[in-house]
Amino acid sequence: MSVKDKNIIIGISGGIAAYKIPMLVRLLRKAGANVQVIMTESAHDFVTPVTLATLSGRPVLTDFVKDDTGTWNNHVSLGLWADLMVFAPVTANTLAKMAHGQADNFLLAVYMSAKCPVMIAPAMDLDMYAHPATKANLKKLQTYGYDIIPATEGELASGLTGYGRMEEPENIFAHINDFFKKKSDLTGKKVLVTAGPTYESIDPVRFIGNHSSGKMGIAIAEEAAERGAEVVLVLGPTHLQTSHPNIKTINVQNAAQMYEAVHKEFDNADITVMAAAVADFTPEQTATEKIKKSGDTMSLKLKATKDILAALGQKKNGRQILIGFAMETENEKANALKKLHKKNLDFIVLNSLREKNAGFKHDTNKVSILTKTGDIIDYPLKNKKDVAADIFDLVLASNK
Ligand code: CTP
Repeated sequence: MSVKDKNIIIGISGGIAAYKIPMLVRLLRKAGANVQVIMTESAHDFVTPVTLATLSGRPVLTDFVKDDTGTWNNHVSLGLWADLMVFAPVTANTLAKMAHGQADNFLLAVYMSAKCPVMIAPAMDLDMYAHPATKANLKKLQTYGYDIIPATEGELASGLTGYGRMEEPENIFAHINDFFKKKSDLTGKKVLVTAGPTYESIDPVRFIGNHSSGKMGIAIAEEAAERGAEVVLVLGPTHLQTSHPNIKTINVQNAAQMYEAVHKEFDNADITVMAAAVADFTPEQTATEKIKKSGDTMSLKLKATKDILAALGQKKNGRQILIGFAMETENEKANALKKLHKKNLDFIVLNSLREKNAGFKHDTNKVSILTKTGDIIDYPLKNKKDVAADIFDLVLASNK
């Protein structure tokens, strides 16, 4: 699939980088996209609507009401018309409003009405970009499933040099192009993903858990959703969440609940990725009241949980693809390969615990993927989102 015939809204807010947007509009139109430009009032100071209307072939919109005729610009139908909304440049102000759902202008009303994917290319002065509020807003917008095109480093309008420059229009165009190109390659597929830790209750206040944050599994779910799959995410207890429209999240607490949820969904899944850090053991009994202190030691009797992945391996049919994770600290590849065969997997993703900046809680990960046909691919340290892309790229390439 390509950008041809796609309906794209370009939302421009009031930053100097707005002067570069006519180039983006031109590239999109040349590639065959339908482009509707919406500007905030302050964006008019940086680029003229006449230029943008001429290049896009459509009147530029800013207000709820058309001045001359008094007719209403319908933000709801425009929001639904769009296949993609691209905010470029986005100021700190618009970013904050997007994160908090404040719809005090036409552009933001369309944004709140839209159901399509959203891309954000921020542009602001370096201190504004580095401000904790901006960082928090960007993080929040990422949890909505939006694609952030980070600002780059360079000379800024203030004369200062640093991060805050909007990505160049050619690169934003390439990003949009890639999005539509890759968007389709999981369309029609159903993907089941597990993520996060499990909490095994000892009593009403205590549990046995682990350090998994759920970041890797959520990145996998988001990547699949962005590539067009219908995703079910079975998510253990974590403060992280995702709200991509293609993802249905089922929240669970413990290994037994995860087992139930996964088994209910498994028959429908074409690709299943077990990224959750499932507890191997759970208390034999959960006390109904808080356990009181008595003596200097205490013993807990644990029993093994059911191995969800192994059970899926037994159950899977020839067209289903099953992917597990392995976290090893010694003889890593040999142990991962053993696990792959024992659990009847198609792929196993080996996490490195030794690597700096990889594994639990980090935004990056360093993995090797082992296939049932005996291949081992070692990847460098990457963002978890890029690791997720590698996993699906390999799965798709192996099934051609
Ligand atoms: N897993 C599972 N159910 C469990 C335990 C683990 O589905 N009760 C899955 C994990 O989601 C992961 C894979 O099994 O995809 C590997 O988990 P790991 O803990 O590394 O391996 P184990 O099989 O538990 O073996 P060991 O702890 O002995 O290394």
